Amino acid sequence: MLAAVVFAAVIAYAAALAYSNHVHDRDLEEDVRSVAKMLQDTHSTGSLPGQVKFLIEYDTAGRNYFAVESRRHGRVSGSTQLISRRSNVLIRGSAVLYDAQVGNVPVRAISATLPSPGEASDTLTVTVAETLHDRQASAREILLLIVPIQLFLIAVLLALVWHGVRFGLRILDPLTQRLAARDRELEPITDADVPVEILPLTRTIDGLFARLRSLVQLHERFIADAAHQLRTPLAGLSLHAERAANASRVEERDASLAFVQELAGRVARTSSQLLALTLAEAPLGDARAMVAVDLASLVPGILGQHVQRALNDGVDLGFDGTGGPLWISGDPNSLRELLDNLVDNAIVYAGRGGTVTVALGSTASGEACLRVDDDGPGVPSPLLDRLGERFFRTPQAVAGGTGLGLAIVRRIARRHGALAAFGASGLGGLRVEIRFPRYDPP
Ligand SMILES: Nc1ncnc2c1ncn2[C@@H]1O[C@H](COP(=O)(O)OP(=O)(O)OP(=O)(O)O)[C@@H](O)[C@H]1O
Ligand SMILES: [Mg+2]
Repeated sequence: MLAAVVFAAVIAYAAALAYSNHVHDRDLEEDVRSVAKMLQDTHSTGSLPGQVKFLIEYDTAGRNYFAVESRRHGRVSGSTQLISRRSNVLIRGSAVLYDAQVGNVPVRAISATLPSPGEASDTLTVTVAETLHDRQASAREILLLIVPIQLFLIAVLLALVWHGVRFGLRILDPLTQRLAARDRELEPITDADVPVEILPLTRTIDGLFARLRSLVQLHERFIADAAHQLRTPLAGLSLHAERAANASRVEERDASLAFVQELAGRVARTSSQLLALTLAEAPLGDARAMVAVDLASLVPGILGQHVQRALNDGVDLGFDGTGGPLWISGDPNSLRELLDNLVDNAIVYAGRGGTVTVALGSTASGEACLRVDDDGPGVPSPLLDRLGERFFRTPQAVAGGTGLGLAIVRRIARRHGALAAFGASGLGGLRVEIRFPRYDPP
């Protein structure tokens, strides 16, 4: 506002000066016409009566000048020599206004030419000039009137703004109280008593609340699941460890230690599956960045790590590739998790002497397709829809699983914009097929 006041003052001064110049130019014009008339009335050849001189020159600070020049006789009368420097010229009928200088003093002058009343063949040029002092003084006076008015207006404006903000923000009080009364609730604020002006803000906060809510739910579910799933094996673990420690016979101790080993394995599996599921369910904001992944080179690498286990379990693990690259946009670590779970299931359910085939392909519309088939017992079709639910295991399930593997698969697939489909395999067992959206690598 201070800058605006300074700017407005400069503009106001310029305008006032222009106005003052206009008024003073008009006065000068009147002066020169009066002198010309006086010369005519007195049939003078150029010299002015003392009374007239006195009137024209009268100025306490000596700021007015005049001169009468005859074409024939040169300077006839005048107060001083005008050093003419014609600029800013303005023509008013027979008179010419211009900027000039007397000595070093800048002046505004007007000259009018008329036939000499006393000598028919002569012409007279009457010049009247004044310093710029009065013009600038008038402009300053106008400015001094305007600036206080502006300052007063600004003070009024500031008071209004202060009042407006102070009282305007009071409409937020009910909302503030409503939010302050909350303990840990992340329910939406709703639009009830929210002024329209801040609706965009509260809606953004509602969006944030929604994301936080799902995160909190995720954490709560993880804690509840972990507590529920780990309590029994951990209790068994401590029981069998105690038994092993107190065992008097070697067989008894070995049996307890075998239980300890099995339960420790289950605790480890449950924990890692729960963590993997939580990670796969975490809001996308925390997701690791998606990169261009070539399934044709990623998948065989992962399968390689399952070969030894397949050999040990007597399962024929085969790979049916595409012969060329198969690009998707994905997170290699999640994809590894996904394939690990599918191959793990397939090897477990195919059983000794069984066959597992992992195949890659692409559909006509350019989707990348990852298939895992096995020749195990499969899943009865009424239950196919339930595969991928957390903790869901079919009645035929092999002991030891947590029921989280396919839930992890489904979440990871969804995160990749892909769909996990469960069905019957041509091999006789279960087929899991993941279709990734078409992706053209950069
Ligand atoms: N290849 C398969 N053949 C037959 N049934 C299967 C197959 N894969 C999964 N299932 C059934 O689906 C259920 C869920 O599988 P999921 O991988 O989610 O859990 P899990 O294997 O029991 O436990 P884990 O979390 O340790 O993998 C299994 O318990 C099993 O009943
Ligand atoms: Mg599994």
